[in-house]
Amino acid sequence: MSEKPVILITGASSGIGAATALYFGQRGYRVVLAARRLERLVEQASEIQDLGGEALAIKADVSSSEQVQALVERTLENYSRIDVLFNNAGFGRMRWLEKLDMEADIETQLQVNLHGAIRTAKAVIPTMIAQRSGHIINMSSVAGYIATPTYSIYAATKFGLRGFTDALRREMYPYNIRVSGIYPGPVKTEFIEHMGSERKSGFKTPTWLVLTSEDVARAVWKLNQRPRRVVVLPGFFSGLIMLEHWFPGLVDWGIERFFIRRERKQS
Ligand SMILES: NC(=O)c1ccc[n+]([C@@H]2O[C@H](COP(=O)([O-])OP(=O)(O)OC[C@H]3O[C@@H](n4cnc5c(N)ncnc54)[C@H](OP(=O)(O)O)[C@@H]3O)[C@@H](O)[C@H]2O)c1
Repeated sequence: MSEKPVILITGASSGIGAATALYFGQRGYRVVLAARRLERLVEQASEIQDLGGEALAIKADVSSSEQVQALVERTLENYSRIDVLFNNAGFGRMRWLEKLDMEADIETQLQVNLHGAIRTAKAVIPTMIAQRSGHIINMSSVAGYIATPTYSIYAATKFGLRGFTDALRREMYPYNIRVSGIYPGPVKTEFIEHMGSERKSGFKTPTWLVLTSEDVARAVWKLNQRPRRVVVLPGFFSGLIMLEHWFPGLVDWGIERFFIRRERKQS
């Protein structure tokens, strides 16, 4: 390929998406940044351009099929190819199910985290099939393997995304299109501001387990260099995923004993 490769990133206005845009933009990729807050995207794109990279900011809500289609069309008008899609847009509302609003919390989470990723992949795939190359990286979470209390809908979206990733990877083999899933633990971003968590136990994730957006951006870069089915980070969570897989009863007991009793009693 003589032209520079192109990455399309959803949820690029902050956190992991913004850091990944910068990381790829500094390393020779033409970057398309998509999200709803256009002014933030324009700032991110300017930063990449100031560093000598190429970037394009496009306002798009992934819960709208029309906007996603327009996003892909504008990308192709400008850059005429898409090498990598990073399906990253998402948010979580972490409350007891009975307290979640059906429309604002539940439907919207499904629309953005799960349907949004499916919608964007579906819009990009015809281009990748025609190119006979491409890489789709889906942003799941450790919550795509381990479903904890107050994460019911978020986990449903991230488990769903894992199933979608696995099936799509197998569908895309004949076209030289790779499909990977990335499953981070906690990352310090604006994500926490949208969670609306009602937890009262005061439990905090130890700081050594919390990643930065740059850590995840680096992992996405490495994953793109060498596509893999699954990347869990940090590695500590692979152990917990194994525990959940082999001893789910023990995990149920631990959560009930050390979390639910305290949290539910106080709610
Ligand atoms: N932070 C964590 O602990 C963590 C851990 C594992 C996985 N993740 C996943 O990582 C991804 C990025 O999250 P983050 O931590 O970087 O949080 P963040 O800073 O809040 O970023 C979320 C991004 O998603 C975008 N977004 C939200 N709704 C959207 C919509 N309807 N259409 C298009 N874009 C939308 C936001 O942009 P606009 O508001 O401008 O639209 C923003 O750019 C999410 O999928 C999240 O589930 C996060």
